[in-house]
Amino acid sequence: MALTIGVDVGGTKIAAGVVDENGEILARTRVPTPADPQWAVDAIAQAVRELKEQYPAVEAVGVGAPGFVDRERSTVIFAPNIDWENEPLRSRIEELTGLDAVVENDANCAAWAEFRFGAAAEHTDMVLITVGTGIGGGIVLDGRLHRGRFGVAGEIGHLNMVPDGLLCGCGGHGCWEQYASGRALRRYGREKAAADPVAGKRVLELNDGVAETIRGIHVTEAAEAGDPLALEVYQEVADWLGRGMADLAALFDPGVFVLGGGVSDSGRLLLDPVAKAFAHYLTGGVHRPRADVVLASMGSAAGIVGAGDLARTR
Ligand code: BGC
Ligand code: NA
Ligand code: ZN
Repeated sequence: MALTIGVDVGGTKIAAGVVDENGEILARTRVPTPADPQWAVDAIAQAVRELKEQYPAVEAVGVGAPGFVDRERSTVIFAPNIDWENEPLRSRIEELTGLDAVVENDANCAAWAEFRFGAAAEHTDMVLITVGTGIGGGIVLDGRLHRGRFGVAGEIGHLNMVPDGLLCGCGGHGCWEQYASGRALRRYGREKAAADPVAGKRVLELNDGVAETIRGIHVTEAAEAGDPLALEVYQEVADWLGRGMADLAALFDPGVFVLGGGVSDSGRLLLDPVAKAFAHYLTGGVHRPRADVVLASMGSAAGIVGAGDLARTR
């Protein structure tokens, strides 16, 4: 199968591309994600048809969705951060585009892309963690994407980290993604700046003095300039990430952890403290080999390339 289309469905935008066998993207398109879930299905189909017109040779489409996807790669069972429940996405996309389709979890797609063509290309066992609005996970063991009995292995954002902790979009309390995501970064920034406006001066200035609406980019900009409060925020996110990764290492013993997603765009600012925290929390850490911790290398292309590549196998 020479050419496929990969689609990356995010909370704010739908990005699609024509992908070849080497993981190269030949053409791309993107549209904002409509609020109504049914319109989102139409928007995905529209993007696919547009690309298919440019490249009539495409043979299949893979759709990466930010939620729990069944083992048959057909249905989005549940999506904590967008409004899909038991959405039969595969059959809808097949009807609307005339192409064979598969549905995959978004982080599984990114993991697969980094494993095949990116930061984990030299590895057989890897865990990808996407740190964005939530936390996504993709697990490759012995060169195979690990899906689990019901297809929802790798839903690491909902590890129970804190007993009776913060309410999560999944309905649970204390999930990992409430403590170590982009949303968490923003929350820590707001809380710390409100609690100590003197220490929070720099972050506050970046948002016209208003603590309640501070955003991730404000924290990142201040941290890049060396601001101690913003660096503390990063340290907190990193600490939680390292903790969870230590548990994942205990379970899967990967050779590498790949950090992707929007927050990882801040580069070493996140990577260095995460690698440290991971080493700190790793059980028996001084007695066992330790996985590498690296940044994703494919950026926003990973979701498209992984979805397209996974569509090659039915
Ligand atoms: C969802 C995952 C998804 C991740 C990143 C989590 O809240 O449960 O399915 O991969 O967010 O989008
Ligand atoms: Na996953
Ligand atoms: Zn949750």
